[in-house]
Amino acid sequence: MDIAIVRAMVVGGASGMARATAERIAAAGGKVAILDRPGSDGAAVAAAFGGLYFDCDITDYTGTEAVITAAVEALGGLDAAVNTAGGGVAAKTIGKDGSPHDLDAFRSVIDLNLVATFNLNRLQAFHMSKNEPNEDGERGVIINTSSIAAYEGQIGQVAYAASKAGIAGMSLTMARDLGSLGIRVNAIAPSLFDTGITKGLPDEFKAPLTKDAAFPKRMGHPDEYARLAVAIIDNPMLNGGTIRLDAGQRFAPR
Ligand SMILES: NC(=O)c1ccc[n+]([C@@H]2O[C@H](COP(=O)([O-])OP(=O)(O)OC[C@H]3O[C@@H](n4cnc5c(N)ncnc54)[C@H](O)[C@@H]3O)[C@@H](O)[C@H]2O)c1
Repeated sequence: MDIAIVRAMVVGGASGMARATAERIAAAGGKVAILDRPGSDGAAVAAAFGGLYFDCDITDYTGTEAVITAAVEALGGLDAAVNTAGGGVAAKTIGKDGSPHDLDAFRSVIDLNLVATFNLNRLQAFHMSKNEPNEDGERGVIINTSSIAAYEGQIGQVAYAASKAGIAGMSLTMARDLGSLGIRVNAIAPSLFDTGITKGLPDEFKAPLTKDAAFPKRMGHPDEYARLAVAIIDNPMLNGGTIRLDAGQRFAPR
């Protein structure tokens, strides 16, 4: 898909990797709508590059449907969707005090990362299915955000790892579901990236977190995620996969 004419929705785009993606698409000429939580910096971020902004809490599944419809209308259609909104809680299956993992806490992480991502995807794909296909037969491309914790979750990450493995598990199946419509689906599985809470950490705290990386031994920069997202949008042969973006890092148990 030609990034210069793409109409893109970036969910979680007020900050971090999605913000860098929104800015990179806009700089290349694409039209961008950021969706993010009420109270986020999304409106200012979008205004800085002449983009659109919509308040959206992705865990409000019903409200999300109306926001997506409004955003697609304002964009004049939807060709690309990049979804990063998510998070997690740290708790072991059996805690230090001997009590079992709180089930509601587990469920809330699955709801935020997996159910809400699928809700976005089914609605994004619905709007993309209305497009006239381009010369390659493409109607759209969806990019979700997994994590290398999907493959090697650390101690205390059981809910997060399960939710991110669910996202990785959807890529090929959804790509197959949507192949006849010309809609591609991929996920990016980052290692540690310099965003959100990690952004402000001093270097001496960051260095041990990436010591297991092959090269470079550092956190990823948000724009490195953006560069991969743009490459996925651009390249029609990238489909059905979850691409590790990790400098060769494999998480140790802790
Ligand atoms: N930063 C990392 O090291 C790292 C590594 C692997 C995976 N991830 C994944 O990346 C995503 C976070 O992106 P980031 O690292 O750029 O962080 P970030 O905190 O800079 O950005 C996340 C954005 O998502 C928004 N968001 C959170 N919950 C939301 C909700 N319910 N509704 C709407 N928007 C919501 C936030 O407001 C924020 O703008 C998560 O899915 C996380 O699991 C991050």
